Amino acid sequence: MKLFIKKPIAQLMAASAETEKSLKRTLGVGSLIALGIGAIIGAGIFVRTAAAAGQHAGPAVTISFLIAAAGCALAGLCYAEFASMIPIAGSAYTYSYATMGEFIAWIIGWDLVLEYALGAATVSIGWSQYFNAFLETFFHTHIPFAISHSPWEVSTTTTGMYANELGTHGIINLPAIFILLMLTLLLIRGTAESAIVNNVIVIVKVAIVLMIIGLGWHFINPANHVPYMIPADAGTVNTNTGPVNYADTFNHGWLGVLRGASVVFFAFIGFDAVSTAAQEAKNPQRDMPKGILISLVICTALYILFSHVLTGLVSYKEFLIQGKEASVSYAIKAAMPGYGWLSSLVTVSILAGFSSVILVMLMGQTRVFYTMSTDGLIPSIFSKLHPKFRTPYKSQWLFFGFVSLFAGFIPDSVVGEMVSIGTLFAFVLVCLGIFILRKTDPDIVRPFKTPWYMVVCPLGAIICLCMIASEGLENWLRLIGWLLIGFVIYFGYSVKRSHVRHGKVEAANDPINPKFLE
Ligand code: ALA
Repeated sequence: MKLFIKKPIAQLMAASAETEKSLKRTLGVGSLIALGIGAIIGAGIFVRTAAAAGQHAGPAVTISFLIAAAGCALAGLCYAEFASMIPIAGSAYTYSYATMGEFIAWIIGWDLVLEYALGAATVSIGWSQYFNAFLETFFHTHIPFAISHSPWEVSTTTTGMYANELGTHGIINLPAIFILLMLTLLLIRGTAESAIVNNVIVIVKVAIVLMIIGLGWHFINPANHVPYMIPADAGTVNTNTGPVNYADTFNHGWLGVLRGASVVFFAFIGFDAVSTAAQEAKNPQRDMPKGILISLVICTALYILFSHVLTGLVSYKEFLIQGKEASVSYAIKAAMPGYGWLSSLVTVSILAGFSSVILVMLMGQTRVFYTMSTDGLIPSIFSKLHPKFRTPYKSQWLFFGFVSLFAGFIPDSVVGEMVSIGTLFAFVLVCLGIFILRKTDPDIVRPFKTPWYMVVCPLGAIICLCMIASEGLENWLRLIGWLLIGFVIYFGYSVKRSHVRHGKVEAANDPINPKFLE
């Protein structure tokens, strides 16, 4: 069945050599870290953290961040080894095709849709919340609840901008679809984010996070941090997506903290984006692992301090009701008198910051499908380029439609958890893959080697699996359903058309030839 047929490294290298004519090696380790942070800081910290604290972990969401960071760091080391083995631009899909074979590559590529496409949907829903906060702050108006929320949400707050819309059902989230449309148009025109623009956005995002930590620290009310974990008898809260009962297994105590980790894990997604810039890195072998790991360390430190302040400003339960949306602006307004300007600044910066995350995700998605399409695994429409702009415009439109379905009609909690579980699953495969490759192909040149791989790889996989386990039956079923759809397409379509299988390129089943990598 040739399930594990590998894509020849020579072909990958040749394709990369072609593009190298147009790509300059300009990125040093500083720019790579900036790229990582640019893709990392987004809705995870400014939206999902409050959700994790409110529903599962309480103030102990700081510990959730530690758990998620440990999983990411261990998987990140494996990722770095993976990326350095094949020093060309690509994603986990590309690397796994050359090292672990087509079937695993398919699973990872298919799974990346959950990370990138649904990731874009989640951040666009967060954008919509902050857009309404922006309109309210600067123009004292907002887009009505019904057309800025999914049909699964009902307005339950009696305070704030939706106070007059109590009981209103959502119909569609139009602002989320609007921002996706704007960014799709931008991507079709090929307006790539320049490193300078990215650096500016990164500075703004980091500055905002630091300001909230520094200024908010003085307004922490220690009472909000007691008890540190949610007690089982904390009661029930009515939210706009239904009641939340803290007595439920994963809504209190340590298991709540673990579930919180799987939610805030979203905040780390994107560090792998650094590996896609390998071709533009001055010294990819040395700088890429550094770029991945240093951006992770910086973000973890910022996140832990930030969540400590956020949960100190208001009680965690408020993040399920009045503070459920645009949670950071809400917390500043509620607990930091005289700092209205900070809340306004946060709102504006977040709109820009989220846009850059959505842009990277939408672009990452179409680029992964572009490669899968040129490999024959999915239809050629995904690799059709615009005659003038040379961008995969048809794919961009198709994904606009697909992502909009989620952004427009599903609550961010559901989409966000699908992103987390999908990405965690990909990380498990990467950790196990690196472990197996060390045994099966010990001679591959590895410019970066995961230290103590006998511990790091299995531990990384175990931590990610624990987070997956905490996500609950509904999310497992969603992941299994998505994978099953993928298997149907793979066995029904891809195996018949795979270029590697059908000799359109010479298949290399032998271990990666080190000579290509020197
Ligand atoms: N890590 C990215 C965010 O938090 C996906 O928005």
